[in-house]
Amino acid sequence: MPILIRRLEQNDGLKTFDCGDHRLNDYLKRHAWANQQQNLVGVTYVAADQSHPKLVIGYYTLATSSIPRHALPGELTKDLPRYQNLPVALLARLAVDLRFQGSGLGKELLRHALENVLSLSKQIGCRYLIVDAYPTAVKWYEKYGFMPIGETSPGGTQPMFLDVRTLELALQ
Ligand SMILES: CC(C)(COP(=O)(O)OP(=O)(O)OC[C@H]1O[C@@H](n2cnc3c(N)ncnc32)[C@H](O)[C@@H]1OP(=O)(O)O)[C@@H](O)C(=O)NCCC(=O)NCCS
Repeated sequence: MPILIRRLEQNDGLKTFDCGDHRLNDYLKRHAWANQQQNLVGVTYVAADQSHPKLVIGYYTLATSSIPRHALPGELTKDLPRYQNLPVALLARLAVDLRFQGSGLGKELLRHALENVLSLSKQIGCRYLIVDAYPTAVKWYEKYGFMPIGETSPGGTQPMFLDVRTLELALQ
C-alpha cells in the first residue's frame, strides 16, 4: 500500500480514526488542527493511503521543549555546555489506526518524524528527541534506539530519549 505522509489539513477525514486509545483519538479529532494553526504548539503529520489521500490512518505531532540536564545520564551530557536545560524536540503524539497496526506504518511515521527532527536540528538547537511512551509502546521505541529516562511518570508513561547526533547514522 503506497503511503503518503504530510502535514494535517483542515478538511482531512478524521472521523473514523481509531487507534484504540481515546486520548490519542480525541487529540487528533478535536485539538490537532487548532494547536497547529492557531496556537502554534504542535504540528501534526498524517499518513494516508495514496488512493484515499484525505482519509487519515496514522499521525504524529511534533513540538519543541526542553529537558533538565540532570534528568539525563551524566556521561552523556558531560561534554555539553553547563546549561541547566537542554533543547529537545518532543514527539508529543504518535498513533496508527487499529486496522493498520503491525503493518509497518508506525515505523514509517517514526522515520518521517526523525527526518523532520534531524532537519530541524540544523536550523534550531535541538540535541535530543524525547517521548512520553505508553508502557505498551516502550519496547517498540527501544527497537529504534530510544532509551528510558528515570522513573515512570504519575500518568503511567515512561519518558524516553534519543540523541539527535545518532540520527544521521540511524537514518542511513
Ligand atoms: C505503537 C504504534 C504507534 C506502533 O505502530 P505500528 O504500525 O503498529 O507498528 P509497526 O508495524 O510499524 O511496528 C514495527 C515493528 O515493531 C513491532 N511492534 C509493533 N508493536 C509493538 C509493541 N507494542 N512492542 C514491541 N514491538 C512492536 C512490529 O512487530 C514490527 O516488528 P518488525 O519490524 O520486526 O516486523 C501503534 O501500535 C499504536 O498506534 N498503538 C496505540 C497508540 C500508542 O500506543 N501510541 C504510542 C504512544 S507513546
